[in-house]
Amino acid sequence: MSSSMSFARIVGTGSALPPKLVTNDDLAADMATRQIETSDQWIVERTGIRQRYIAERGFKTSTLATQAAQRALADAGVDASEVDLIILATSTPDFVFPSTACLVQANLGNKGAAAFDVQAVCSGFVYALTTAECFIRAGKARCALVIGAEVFSSILDWNDRGTCVLFGDGAGAVVLKGSDTPGILASELHADGSQTHILAAAGNVAYGQVTGDPFLRMDGQAVFKQAVTVLDRSARSVVAQAGLTLADLDWMIPHQANLRILTFLARKLDVPLEKVVITVDQHANTSAASVPLALDVARRDGRVQAGQLVLLQGVGGGFTWGSVLVRM
Ligand code: UT7
Repeated sequence: MSSSMSFARIVGTGSALPPKLVTNDDLAADMATRQIETSDQWIVERTGIRQRYIAERGFKTSTLATQAAQRALADAGVDASEVDLIILATSTPDFVFPSTACLVQANLGNKGAAAFDVQAVCSGFVYALTTAECFIRAGKARCALVIGAEVFSSILDWNDRGTCVLFGDGAGAVVLKGSDTPGILASELHADGSQTHILAAAGNVAYGQVTGDPFLRMDGQAVFKQAVTVLDRSARSVVAQAGLTLADLDWMIPHQANLRILTFLARKLDVPLEKVVITVDQHANTSAASVPLALDVARRDGRVQAGQLVLLQGVGGGFTWGSVLVRM
C-alpha cells in the first residue's frame, strides 16, 4: 500500500429493503385481531413513524445485506474481488455461526477478504465503519465493505405494542477505500455496560433450546433520555476533534429511532432540522441498518452531495454510541 494513502474515504453506498410495506394502519388492524390497541395517530405523534418494511418469515439478513453490498459496489465501480475486508453489523445474524459477513462474502463471490460481524445493536454501523477506517489507516486493508443489516422483525414481540410498532427491516452498505485525501475526519466510539438492562434481547440458543427471553425489551423513556444526552455530547466531541464547528455541518444522519429524538437533538445542538436527514418516517428503526440506509437514500435523492460534511451517529443497546464525521 502506498504510504500516501493514509485516509479512508466512502466511495459508494447502497441499500435494500424487503418487499413488504406495512403502514401504521396495517399494523393497527393486525394487532386489533389480537385485542391489542394502537393507532396511526399514536405512532405518528410519539415517533414520527408512518410505515416500515417487514421481511417474510425465513427471509435472511444475509440476503438484504448482499443486495445492499452489491448496490454499494456498483455505485463505487468496484469489483467484489477488490474487497479485502468485510465488516457487517447486525443483531439479527442468520446463524450463531458462521458470521453473516462470511455468508455475504460467499454470495458476492469474494475469496480471501477478512470477514466478521460486529455486535453493537443500533450503533453497529458506526462501530463497523470506525473499525474499517482503522484497518485502512493502519495499512491492513485497502478496500472495505461495511454493512449494517437487520431482520429485526424476527426478535420483536408482536404482542408488545410499546416496542413492535417502532422497528423495521433493511440493510445499508458503504465501500470504504484508502485515499490520499481525508474522507473520514474524526470518529469516536463509547459504551456503558452498566446500562444493558434498558434495551436488550436477553435470550440465546443453548443446549438445543432457546434460553432466556428471545424478544427485544426496552425501557423506552430511559433509552430516549440516554440517546439525546450521548448523541449531543458525541456530536460536539467529534466536530471539535476535527477542528470544525457544528455550523460547518451540511448534514446530520443520526440513528433513525424516533423523530422526537432527532428533533430534540437538533434543537440541543442548535442545528436546523432541515440539515437532519430523516428517514425514520419511511423505514422505522432498522437498528444497525438505519444510518447507512439513510445515507444511501439521501445520496440517491440528491440531498447529500460530494464534498459535503456529514455527521453519522449511532446509539443503542449495550448501551453503545458513537459518531463518525465524514467528508463525502
Ligand atoms: O435504537 C433505540 C431504540 N429505542 C428507541 O428509540 C426508544 C426511545 N423511546 C421512545 O421512542 C419512546 O419512549 C416510546 C415511543 C417508546 C414511547 O413513547 P412515550 O411518550 O415514552 O410513551 P410511554 O411509554 O410513556 O407510554 C404512554 C402511553 C402508555 O399508556 P398509559 O400507561 O399512559 O395508559 C402506553 O401503554 O402509551 C401507551 N402505548 C401505546 N399506545 C398505543 C405504548 N405503546 C403504544 C402503542 N399504541 N403502540
